[in-house]
Amino acid sequence: MPRPRVYVTGPIPSEVAAAVAKDFELLDQPVGAEGVLSLPSSRIERALFELAGPQLRIVANYGVGIDNIDLDAARVRGIVVANTPDVLTDATAEHAIALTLSLLRRVVEGDRFLRARGSWSSGLEFMLGRSLRGSRFLVVGPGRIGLATGRLASALGADVWFARRGEALLPLLATADVISLHVPLTPETRHLIDARAIAAMRGATALVNTARGAILDEEALAAALVEHRIAGAALDVFEDEPHVPKALLGLDNVVLTPHIGSGTRETRIRMGMLAVSALGDMLLRNRCPANAVD
Ligand code: 8YV
Repeated sequence: MPRPRVYVTGPIPSEVAAAVAKDFELLDQPVGAEGVLSLPSSRIERALFELAGPQLRIVANYGVGIDNIDLDAARVRGIVVANTPDVLTDATAEHAIALTLSLLRRVVEGDRFLRARGSWSSGLEFMLGRSLRGSRFLVVGPGRIGLATGRLASALGADVWFARRGEALLPLLATADVISLHVPLTPETRHLIDARAIAAMRGATALVNTARGAILDEEALAAALVEHRIAGAALDVFEDEPHVPKALLGLDNVVLTPHIGSGTRETRIRMGMLAVSALGDMLLRNRCPANAVD
């Protein structure tokens, strides 16, 4: 029996590549593919569907966010789209807390300071941070990752609140010490945190984004940080990855990481295996995968 043909849009961990090679014929271009394993950095749109051809049945995304995929174009062609929920929840929630603590306790700033100087002169008011314990921690988007982040923050003594869809956001933003973003990127959430939302925040607010860059208006955020209208931001995601706005790079009240929220080896392998099992469900077992979206 010929093996189903699969196109993978970029490099993947060797363990996952071996699982793909075991059951599928690997193509080096999309033409003729029955399945696509897509990296979140690849745009999956009509042009790719047309290039692949009408035999394309499934796109398995190597990530939980599916904003890189044109779902309407997939739907009209009857192409199933799958993602990788659950397996990255804890890793991403951990990273949101790591960013929060780095910012509140000035970990990265302290590291930069020492590297630049090699020594310091101590003082009881030197480089004071703020505690997560007792802070008012607002989770925007109480989905799987938002809830897990809230649980971790709560275990560390934060007073955790959730902003749900449809709820008036500005009054919640106005009272938070830490705001952690966990909504998916959709037309509705693009620039959810815009200049107006930032203006509603308190001077002491720390903003953390491990979701998608475009949820935040980066320009408005940079302006607020430069003018110290909010205390700081910790960002794992950016509007135009892999580009990081210059305005953010020079600021001390900012912590930046290169989209590594799900970045532990075990998590990345579990994500890959889940995506491969979706390809197998569709192309080998002829059934819709449990992790199909919609
Ligand atoms: C990326 C993510 O998939 O799952 C998502 O939506 O953003 C991440 O887990 C991962 O960083 C690979 O690009």
